[in-house]
Amino acid sequence: MYKANPDRYKKMKYNKVGDSGVLLPQISLGFWINFGDEKPFEHVKEIVLAAFDNGITHFDLANNYGVPSGSAEKNLGKILAEELKPYRDELFISTKAGYQMWDGPYGDNGSRKYLMASLDQSLERLGLDYVDLFYHHRPDYETPLEETMKALADIVYQGKALYVGISNYPTERAIEAAEILKSYGVKLLIHQPSFSLLNRWIQKDGLDEGMSSRGIGLIPFSVLSQGLLTNKYINDIPKDSRAANEKIPFLNKDNITPELLKKLKRLNKVANKRGQTIAEMAMAWATTQKGITTVLTGVSKLSQLESNLKAMENTEFTQEELDEIEMICNEELLRKEPKRS
Ligand SMILES: NC(=O)c1ccc[n+]([C@@H]2O[C@H](COP(=O)([O-])OP(=O)(O)OC[C@H]3O[C@@H](n4cnc5c(N)ncnc54)[C@H](OP(=O)(O)O)[C@@H]3O)[C@@H](O)[C@H]2O)c1
Repeated sequence: MYKANPDRYKKMKYNKVGDSGVLLPQISLGFWINFGDEKPFEHVKEIVLAAFDNGITHFDLANNYGVPSGSAEKNLGKILAEELKPYRDELFISTKAGYQMWDGPYGDNGSRKYLMASLDQSLERLGLDYVDLFYHHRPDYETPLEETMKALADIVYQGKALYVGISNYPTERAIEAAEILKSYGVKLLIHQPSFSLLNRWIQKDGLDEGMSSRGIGLIPFSVLSQGLLTNKYINDIPKDSRAANEKIPFLNKDNITPELLKKLKRLNKVANKRGQTIAEMAMAWATTQKGITTVLTGVSKLSQLESNLKAMENTEFTQEELDEIEMICNEELLRKEPKRS
């Protein structure tokens, strides 16, 4: 039987989520890719338990995570039942709904009908009575925002989620969502946007200021731009990398452009001078940005998790380093700002 590392809380730093009473670890573990049936269960379990043993108390899921969709929640459910049950109150587990999950008109987007049914399905896969955090996964301009937010508020009142969040909402829509939720007596806890050294839309769009000034946390995803912000692609495309895996359509060889490689080579030099890899520097940098509560990490190997945890030991940047990083990354965005209505 698994026994958690007694020193698990010694090294990890915990940050308050906005002006709420909740603390989240500086790094949180994301289950999008690498935690479903696309990987052997024992491999998934090893990484999940190693994360917990290192003080990572927040696991981020969604209804559609893993291949097939739902398998990441199922795997975590199994790990919870078999190993982590005694530690449930030490864990902060989130899930989401908003992308296509089942056939027909009620398995997608932001209707009350979809969100309520999807959360029930997620709870069943996870084997839980409640999640700590439930998100609307992406903005849906076809459904009145009031309907989506009322569903989130009711989910809190039903006790199926303790807190609610939104993801991928542009700033204006996010502020509106927070205000509507507030009118139903529920606080928007956190926003989950994409963000990395190469993807600054939250800073350009003012989401960082818009959320932090309202006491709402930010938990960025794809902080390594799905693995592009590492040194793995500098010389080649490794066979076991996300870009080489044709079953994962979100990153492919075309993303590795000559311009990107030029930036990576220069970033590599800055990182090495700091005694870090590009990935470690990119993780460390993200934690220091305005409004950021915790950064999500997605890993395919235990060694990557260890390296990303190590990154948190050096999150100080000199002005010279910051200037150099800005010059290299410039303004180029890999991922565009979310679409407005
Ligand atoms: N709300 C949303 O819409 C949304 C969207 C996407 C993600 N997310 C959340 O954010 C989490 C993270 O997303 P992501 O997987 O795109 O994050 P990411 O951290 O940008 O990319 C993860 C990939 O980076 C590589 N990697 C990680 N650490 C590394 C290291 N130390 N050295 C070398 N390579 C390293 C691995 O690539 P290889 O596989 O090539 O080894 C890994 O699969 C997800 O699991 C999910 O929870 C949310």
